[in-house]
Amino acid sequence: SAHQWQAPGANDSRGPCPGLNTLANHAFLPRNGSNLTVPIIMRALESGYNVQPIDILRVAAKLGLLTTDEEESFQLQNLALHGTIEHDTSLSRQDFAQGDNLHFNETIFTALNNSNPGVDYYNTTSAGQVLIQRLEEDKIANPNLINTAKEFFVRVGESALYLSVMGNATTGVAPKQFVQIFFREERLPLAEGWKRSEVPINDDTLDFVSSEIRNATTWAPSGSVICPWNRLQ
Ligand code: HEM
Ligand code: MG
Repeated sequence: SAHQWQAPGANDSRGPCPGLNTLANHAFLPRNGSNLTVPIIMRALESGYNVQPIDILRVAAKLGLLTTDEEESFQLQNLALHGTIEHDTSLSRQDFAQGDNLHFNETIFTALNNSNPGVDYYNTTSAGQVLIQRLEEDKIANPNLINTAKEFFVRVGESALYLSVMGNATTGVAPKQFVQIFFREERLPLAEGWKRSEVPINDDTLDFVSSEIRNATTWAPSGSVICPWNRLQ
């Protein structure tokens, strides 16, 4: 069907966001990952994930426009521009300083993959623990990592997003298998039983899941950059 998963071809643009790459692999975004505008992004979030057009994601899409010299569109790979949205200490990508902040990396993904041992789901508690574990690992791997309030805010939001779109958006509980397929294959695990959320994912659901993650984590800024809310480059 029109929204069948297809691996990207050599000329298709993909980026550091598994959520948007997956939408492109299923043609909710153009399969070539190019000529993306804010309304194209907002409509794809809705049709693919039942994520409502909320301000926080509209702002993310607008920041996407700042990652390119194009006037009113961007490509998925532009999103890897370090410091606009892309940040250090990702769940599944190396830091910019380590060489490849764009492609899925199985070694980096180990912390999330192996979290919440003994059960077959991830939740807000495990997501909070993974954020801290990644920071501890990354402080050794990249002593110059940037870890300000901005990066922490974005990282918590991204964790809330993978739990919400792959799992129960009200509770933040997501089957491990779905989350793993989402990150590794950038595929909707339809054959495995995943369904688009029946609950619209909006500020209420995301704020709840985010605050539960935040409650399950501790965080302190580190490094020399203290609070650069946006670094344009
Ligand atoms: C990263 C999911 C929407 C741009 C991420 C990550 C997740 C995620 C889980 C973390 C990847 C990691 O740490 O390895 C989603 C979902 C979305 C969504 C489920 C929609 C429902 C967006 C939008 C934008 C965006 C609208 C902006 C156009 C990015 C960027 C990163 C990212 C630039 C890289 C950050 C980094 O890890 O360094 N996304 N995202 N995402 N997302 Fe999205
Ligand atoms: Mg990153």
